[in-house]
Amino acid sequence: MATGVAAVLTALKGRDYISSADCSADETGALLDLAHQLKSGNRRIDLGNRVLGLIFNKASTRTRVSFQVAMARLGGQTVDLNPSLTQLGRGEPLEDTARVLSRYCDVLAIRTFAQQEVVDYAHWSTVPVINALTDLEHPCQALADFLTMREVHGELVGQTLAYIGDGNNVAHSLMQCGALLGVNVRIGCPVGFEPLPGVLEQARSLSQNGAQIQVISDPAEAVNGAQAVYTDVWASMGQEQEQREREQAFKGFCVDQALMDQAATNAIVLHCLPAHRDEEISAEVMESDASRVFDQAENRLHVQQALLASVMGGL
Ligand code: CP
Ligand code: NVA
Repeated sequence: MATGVAAVLTALKGRDYISSADCSADETGALLDLAHQLKSGNRRIDLGNRVLGLIFNKASTRTRVSFQVAMARLGGQTVDLNPSLTQLGRGEPLEDTARVLSRYCDVLAIRTFAQQEVVDYAHWSTVPVINALTDLEHPCQALADFLTMREVHGELVGQTLAYIGDGNNVAHSLMQCGALLGVNVRIGCPVGFEPLPGVLEQARSLSQNGAQIQVISDPAEAVNGAQAVYTDVWASMGQEQEQREREQAFKGFCVDQALMDQAATNAIVLHCLPAHRDEEISAEVMESDASRVFDQAENRLHVQQALLASVMGGL
């Protein structure tokens, strides 16, 4: 199996991962396979002192630390650049920054607001660029989420993940990545908070093995019989001023025990974190036996280690 996985992932050398759609279905599955091998200790990869540059314009705990630890485990190092303390904060153009950092770093991971900014970094950089979250997508998160689901339920094809809440960056990546992996993804969201139509259309076009990608306004209907129930904050980073208004709009969309009772009996609970207990998820469900949120957070490390090794050609 290791040989087959390596053969598929060799094609990722030098490539960017800005969107889940940047990898084929086979490549996405192989990334999960390699992550599993790394996690179980069946595979060790030493890249020999490569350097990851982190450029984060938004707060982060999991993504920042998991990228740093992943790089350390690959025998490399990370430079964590706070953009406001670099010349970027004083107006140095992105196209110059990207070309300069490419001379020092072997890969860049970027967290920012506009997806276009990450696209621009990828255009100007001569090293691979990874999306560490934008307003549009969070592709590394989705890899960890589906690895977590596979660890519990096995083969992903034909399973159903219900995401309850805002049709945001996390929902977008779950739709795209789920489609590639053959997982049915149901987004249960209030009217007016649906995923972007273009992303929905794209996810449907990526669908493998008949995976259905649906948007449903009734949370109970969305969750019905699902193997995984997922939620995320109602107001994402950059939307803090909409918090109160969103609390009203999302009434009835809290993942609580009554909602979980509609899911499959062995359903797991997922949340990308950070969580707001008793808003989008009840404290009871968050701490229940069904909750896999900390496995999910751990899996960020393993999938990103697999991704870093692949784009740097270390297989
Ligand atoms: N889930 C996630 O991306 O967490 P951070 O914002 O802490 O990186
Ligand atoms: N949707 C959330 C995810 C945080 C990991 C945000 O963008 O703030």
